[in-house]
Amino acid sequence: SQRIKIKALLQTEPAGQEVNVKGWVRTFRNNQFIALNDGSTNSNIQIVVDFQNTDEALLKRITTGAALSVTGTLVASLGKGQAVDIKATTIEVLGDSDPEKYPLQPKKHSLEFLREIAHLRFRTNTFGAIFRVRNSLSFAVHTFFQERGFVYLHTPVITASDAEGAGEAFKVTNLDLNNPPRTESGEIDFKQDFFGRATNLTVSGQLEGELGAMALSDIYTFGPTFRAENSNTTRHLAEFWMIEPEMAFYDLADNMDLAEALLKYVISYALEHNREDIEFLTQRLTEEDKSKPQQERQEMTLLEKLQFCLDNDFERLTYTQAIDILKDSTPNKKKKFQYLIEGWGADLQSEHERYLVEKHFKKPVILTDYPKEIKSFYMRQNDDGKTVAAMDILFPGIGEIVGGSQREERLERLEQRMDEMGIPKDELWWYLDTRRFGGCPHAGFGLGFERLVLFVTGMGNIRDVIPFPRFPKNAEF
Ligand code: 4AD
Ligand code: MG
Repeated sequence: SQRIKIKALLQTEPAGQEVNVKGWVRTFRNNQFIALNDGSTNSNIQIVVDFQNTDEALLKRITTGAALSVTGTLVASLGKGQAVDIKATTIEVLGDSDPEKYPLQPKKHSLEFLREIAHLRFRTNTFGAIFRVRNSLSFAVHTFFQERGFVYLHTPVITASDAEGAGEAFKVTNLDLNNPPRTESGEIDFKQDFFGRATNLTVSGQLEGELGAMALSDIYTFGPTFRAENSNTTRHLAEFWMIEPEMAFYDLADNMDLAEALLKYVISYALEHNREDIEFLTQRLTEEDKSKPQQERQEMTLLEKLQFCLDNDFERLTYTQAIDILKDSTPNKKKKFQYLIEGWGADLQSEHERYLVEKHFKKPVILTDYPKEIKSFYMRQNDDGKTVAAMDILFPGIGEIVGGSQREERLERLEQRMDEMGIPKDELWWYLDTRRFGGCPHAGFGLGFERLVLFVTGMGNIRDVIPFPRFPKNAEF
């Protein structure tokens, strides 16, 4: 009979019909009950083995991790908690798994341990749930934009520009380093590295996205971006996926509305389509919480947190208003923030962001109109001469999840700002051309996809929400 995925099988009315399933053994109890999983759902199908009439050699090969093909009849389950069982008639071992050597035992493993065997961690309930949620979220991103007439624009991975001007780009080279081209002073000429041109991996597709928006009106990118910052945090990766919409004729308020609508749409999509996985992850966190002291426990469960995010408007305020709140706040008995903040003009540290989001407003916050000194050259300058039309969205437990702005469409103001900041105008001539020929008000933002997955899964470390994390010293597979 034809193979059925376990997810579909669990919704099938059992009537003694013959079915075939294929998957991997999670546990095998008493030589009688196999829990088989094929990744379509967190639930296992229980397979009842007629062990008295089964070859002993075959029973020995049914070990945790082994790949099986099982044919049998679908019957109502004898056990609690599941609707159907398969009474096996034929079991075929497609791939053995030596129980002495298989690193995943049928018990709870720490996330740290699983990170070291990241090639096998897909086979755990937690990572199965995470990557199904990640899959849904990425599908929902496309659905959201496609329904609104946005064009998915593929921007290059190899580029000569550093879109953020922050000098955090990985170089790309095809130089023969045994016989490299040299400058007059004898050093390796890295300006020659990409067939005669200095290039790097993209840090953001925004500048190219703006070119698209100046003709197609509304575009979005969704692809990998790279940052060569040597940061070992639970919120940073060297390779992460970013969603960057760019919209002609949008101002900052339109930009905020779109970002808030996008976040709510994708979260509610996951809640609807991945209910079982999110319930599992919620349960996991609730269990974890029990071992913590009272003060450190979550006020809301993961499910409640997600629903709360959907039900409430994000708080919108300016950077200046945020500084005023922080100045008057006492985060704990010992210290006040004014000792921590140098004053107006300083960048907010994560403890400040956390205070605003988790203690003061207790909901997602959009901060706008940052000092121009701490933001990128392309952001539109406000009339006060001090701030730019920037927006950052801060999420509880995550910090910055979105960064964006209205763009500086006025050629003179843009060129002047690039000069002030030492951004090479000649290298970005093509970008400036959009301001020369039919430039118009426009805006956009970047949503860090892994930070979104972190929020929706409730996980604590960004390395656990991307299948193959890239961070300092980690790139083996
Ligand atoms: O704030 P960022 O650097 O903004 C840009 O790159 C703009 N060009 C976006 C735009 O306006 N089109 O990055 C945007 C988001 C951050 O808010 C964060 O969520 C995520 O990307 N991000 C990272 N995620 C994981 N690891 C890193 N190293 C990240 N750096 C930024
Ligand atoms: Mg940012």
